[in-house]
Amino acid sequence: MRSLIDILELSVEELDELIALAEDIIANPAKYQESCRHKKLATLFFEPSTRTRLSFEAAMYELGGDVLSMSSAGSSSAAKGESVADTAKTVSCYADIIAMRHPKEGAPMVAAMNAGIPVINAGDGGHNHPTQTLADLLTIWREKGKFTGLTIGLCGDLKFGRTVHSLIAAMARYTGNRFVLISPEELKLPSYVKKDILEKNGIEYIQTTDLEKALPELDILYMTRVQRERFFNEEDYLRLKDSYILTPEKLKKGRADLSILHPLPRVNEISVGVDADPRAVYFKQVLNGKYMRMALILKLLEVEV
Ligand code: CP
Repeated sequence: MRSLIDILELSVEELDELIALAEDIIANPAKYQESCRHKKLATLFFEPSTRTRLSFEAAMYELGGDVLSMSSAGSSSAAKGESVADTAKTVSCYADIIAMRHPKEGAPMVAAMNAGIPVINAGDGGHNHPTQTLADLLTIWREKGKFTGLTIGLCGDLKFGRTVHSLIAAMARYTGNRFVLISPEELKLPSYVKKDILEKNGIEYIQTTDLEKALPELDILYMTRVQRERFFNEEDYLRLKDSYILTPEKLKKGRADLSILHPLPRVNEISVGVDADPRAVYFKQVLNGKYMRMALILKLLEVEV
């Protein structure tokens, strides 16, 4: 029985297999439509979500399975003080696999240690969001056809952005990638990510506050939202929230083969005018997330199709 808490728990070979499986699901959906018949996924979301929860649920339905859904902490016995461990033990009496989002770093790991069924981390605080990374990887694969030799710009909240931390960890395992870290001083990438992932592996990176200057050299621009829910005071959030706003005008500096990703939701950081640009692939990324979650559910439930 295996869970997924951190993207690095999947080897590069396993990532390749998941991508190949997702591609086969896209090409042959009917082949998979009964593959999780009589299996149940429990989605335990202690933080708001649109894409991650609904794509997990759509994924399980498209595999022929069923879903037990808890969409807020307030609607569960967590509101009465129940621990994550007890919640996990309880839900494992009803479901075959759990997807959990929690504001506390490490909560899905505690659930995995207690559940006795696979637990998928669907985002834990400012820490990790491995299934978003699976969506990001399939998008990069489909747009670029490779994971190597790319200049990847990450822009916005690199401090609390859990999707950024997971994506850097994943892409750092492939050769020849370099990172351009674009953020305000206050929202720079945490030093543990720089030291433990980038510097330890000798990966080239630069830090800058200037998006427009960085744009012309990028193969991928990964925009992120400044997350109000991670700030301790509103004043800091208001000061930083519009640090970067990508517009069609600014995008003129980007290459013709640039791919613009964003884990979404967006607030102001990408103007709606950018959506029509063929380089904007963030809604394709949303759909890719569903296919990668289907592939992951099949893998963790050890379903052979
Ligand atoms: N990308 C992402 O995690 O979106 P949601 O918060 O809507 O799930």
